[in-house]
Amino acid sequence: MDKYNLAIVGATGAVGQEMIKTVVHRNFPYSSIRLFASGRSKGKKLKVNDTEIEVEELTKNSFNNKDIQIALFSAGGDRSKEFAPIAAGNNVVVIDNSSTFRMDNDVPLVVPEVNPHDLRKHSNIIANPNCSTIQMVVVLKPIHDRSRIKRVVVSTYQAVSGAGMRAMAELRSQTAQYLEGKELKIEKFPCQIAFNCIPQIDSFLDNGYTKEEIKMVNETKKIMGDAAIQVTATTVRVPVFKGHSESINIETESKITREQAMDILKNAEGVTVIDDTDNLKYPLAVDCADQDDTFAGRIREDESIANGLNMWVVSDNLRKGAALNAVQIAERMIKDKLI
Ligand code: A2P
Repeated sequence: MDKYNLAIVGATGAVGQEMIKTVVHRNFPYSSIRLFASGRSKGKKLKVNDTEIEVEELTKNSFNNKDIQIALFSAGGDRSKEFAPIAAGNNVVVIDNSSTFRMDNDVPLVVPEVNPHDLRKHSNIIANPNCSTIQMVVVLKPIHDRSRIKRVVVSTYQAVSGAGMRAMAELRSQTAQYLEGKELKIEKFPCQIAFNCIPQIDSFLDNGYTKEEIKMVNETKKIMGDAAIQVTATTVRVPVFKGHSESINIETESKITREQAMDILKNAEGVTVIDDTDNLKYPLAVDCADQDDTFAGRIREDESIANGLNMWVVSDNLRKGAALNAVQIAERMIKDKLI
């Protein structure tokens, strides 16, 4: 098997760390691996398998040597905007976790279980979708294949790790401050996250929605290749470290019963059904952390409309929602000889 020279940009971050773990765990065929972050992390050593690798500062010249073939970017939108085109211009295939290029017409936005064919149109930058969107479309696609989805109403319960390392630290420290009766220090989130739910992820737009909510709307249509699917979302940050949960209401063109939906999802790639209410079994963020699959449960027919389903969908936002999906894109491109 061919081996590839890999780079991870944002290697010290929450997603970057998960990318390193995922590459090792899946035996990704790399012959070398370079790690990039900000100047603050320059010289720091990170373990990749059994080897310690020194973190390099990301600069305009990082890709000059033309020795890197694949770069997984997760260092924030500004870095992607500045450095991804430079890397792509040096013949590096960039798989970018930020939202910077997701809606660009010439950039494929891919979840390998859903639209791997879109990778064929790439011109060196491929966008990794938003974490909440990835776990939703993995479940929507097999249902859409059975009966066209007309409308989706989704509410999310998103873990703090989606906002990065400092956000995780803030939940930890606020929890301690709260329990010790101290004043809470609020830095990363707009308000208290410990013992609270915040109905705001990303900034507000003129229509009253947040950017995160509109990402779910637009990205779902692009990945599913169907602009007619109506999607509306409410995205909420909850005091959970890992694992996004979603309540999803789906309206289809023709009736899908609970049993049929269970059957469809049990046979869907990348989905595990946990749905046994008699024994109080349903997907939980704490159980889904560090797992590859997207978990679906609480599957019910929506009794308020003719052709509707309700379900509860959980996935590790750092894994399938970010690192794993990016690595799966690279694996698929290798398999399809696109790299
Ligand atoms: P660093 O650790 O050196 O700041 P998270 O979202 O978990 O906070 O991670 C963000 C990632 O993006 C980290 O690896 C961080 O590196 C990296 N990053 C932030 N700013 C820059 C920058 N100016 N150049 C390169 N990497 C950056």
